[in-house]
Amino acid sequence: MLTDQDRIFTNIYGMADRSLKGAQARGAWDGTAGLIEKGRDWIIDEVKASGLRGRGGAGFPTGLKWSFMPKESDGRPSYLVVNADESEPGTCKDREIMRHDPHLFIEGCLIASFAMNAHACYIYIRGEYIREREALQIAIDEAYDAGLLGKNAAGSGWDFDLYLHHGAGAYICGEETALLESLEGKKGMPRLKPPFPANTGLYGAPTTVNNVESIAVVPTILRRGASWFAGFGRENNAGTKLFAISGHVENPCVVEEAMSIPLRELLDKHCGGVRGGWDNLKTVIPGGSSVRCLPHTICDEAIMDFDWLRGQGSGLGTAAVIVMDQSTDVIKAIWRLSKFYKHESCGQCTPCREGTGWMMRVMDRLVTGDAEPEEIDMLLDVTKQVEGHTICALGDAAAWPIQGLIQHYREEIEDRIKAKRTGRMGAMAAE
Ligand code: NAI
Ligand code: SF4
Repeated sequence: MLTDQDRIFTNIYGMADRSLKGAQARGAWDGTAGLIEKGRDWIIDEVKASGLRGRGGAGFPTGLKWSFMPKESDGRPSYLVVNADESEPGTCKDREIMRHDPHLFIEGCLIASFAMNAHACYIYIRGEYIREREALQIAIDEAYDAGLLGKNAAGSGWDFDLYLHHGAGAYICGEETALLESLEGKKGMPRLKPPFPANTGLYGAPTTVNNVESIAVVPTILRRGASWFAGFGRENNAGTKLFAISGHVENPCVVEEAMSIPLRELLDKHCGGVRGGWDNLKTVIPGGSSVRCLPHTICDEAIMDFDWLRGQGSGLGTAAVIVMDQSTDVIKAIWRLSKFYKHESCGQCTPCREGTGWMMRVMDRLVTGDAEPEEIDMLLDVTKQVEGHTICALGDAAAWPIQGLIQHYREEIEDRIKAKRTGRMGAMAAE
């Protein structure tokens, strides 16, 4: 269990001073030059040993990703790009870091860039995050004024510039290669991988793309030690984690907890529990909209980490926990996600462009009960033809919530179709 002293983000609710002075009083920028002095290999080894896995959703080991970057320059510059395009429905954790604890994040950008031989870092921030951009820009300006960024940043001997780039509100620009395209001034369309960005990234140069939280935890990991961070959570699922909990709980919130916390404990301890009590719970989407939902029966024993949730066919994703009680029309809730993915598909590959529209139109009929019973299996079949057959993960993200719905709530879908048909037949008989 996490104590207040263990928390990395001590100003998540914005109760304290977020300025440089306030952040320094809470430990940010403490001994940064000393950490950098220990060298690239030490930093990357510590991040590896900490067990940190990417906090943007995929959970790829952060230290390993950093180690893919070239140690020596081949004539091309190296870049760090931070993905602050937080657009996954239900997800608002990075927002709190940028609003209230921006200095830990900026310090992380410097240390991570040094570790990857990058003199420049670009933060790509979501178009709708206007206040967050303002707060972050103020903090960046403060850091420049204090000599923490720019030439000989923080007295480390490393010259380092940090740029904030504002997106225009397209969900797909959160996909790392679409983000790079957009940053280069082009239409935000995902690239085929491989090559991965570490090989050919921004402007064709070696690039690492990391999530805001992944970068912001690094200075504290280095100050407190890799084994401290690795001490939270289960094996291969280490550390502390920001959870964003929304929906039918008494107090929705963003909270930092130990990885692998049981779902029920997370909701009871920080959210006042499920609205109307635990028995009133219907379903939970545990990791932002791109994963399959969990039915109540599984929620009882759910452990909030990458491997446990994956083992259940779901995922930790962005750790945005969307709670739905018994009053929820779960078919309609998943239909709304289908509509979202159809709208956000970039249209570049056929299974996603055609499949998202196709799936949404069948979902339209499932919501009203106007579908034919055979359409349930047909829809499932279409999701399987989209899943794994597209350029980027948006295709999977559109397919998985529907698969979860059919897997766990098929009876509810069938009942609705039956009720509609019975009503229809009753009306026909009366005519
Ligand atoms: P991915 O698994 O393809 O890649 C994850 C990271 O590891 C990437 O940076 C990739 O470049 C790197 N990587 C993977 N395999 C590699 C290899 N063999 N060599 C070098 N680097 C490698 O996942 P992706 O598509 O980047 O992200 C999908 C996740 O994003 C979903 O799980 C979803 O939860 C999350 N997501 C988050 C959103 C947000 O608002 N934070 C929005 C939408 C989705
Ligand atoms: Fe675009 Fe969808 Fe293909 Fe991704 S999967 S590249 S969003 S069409």
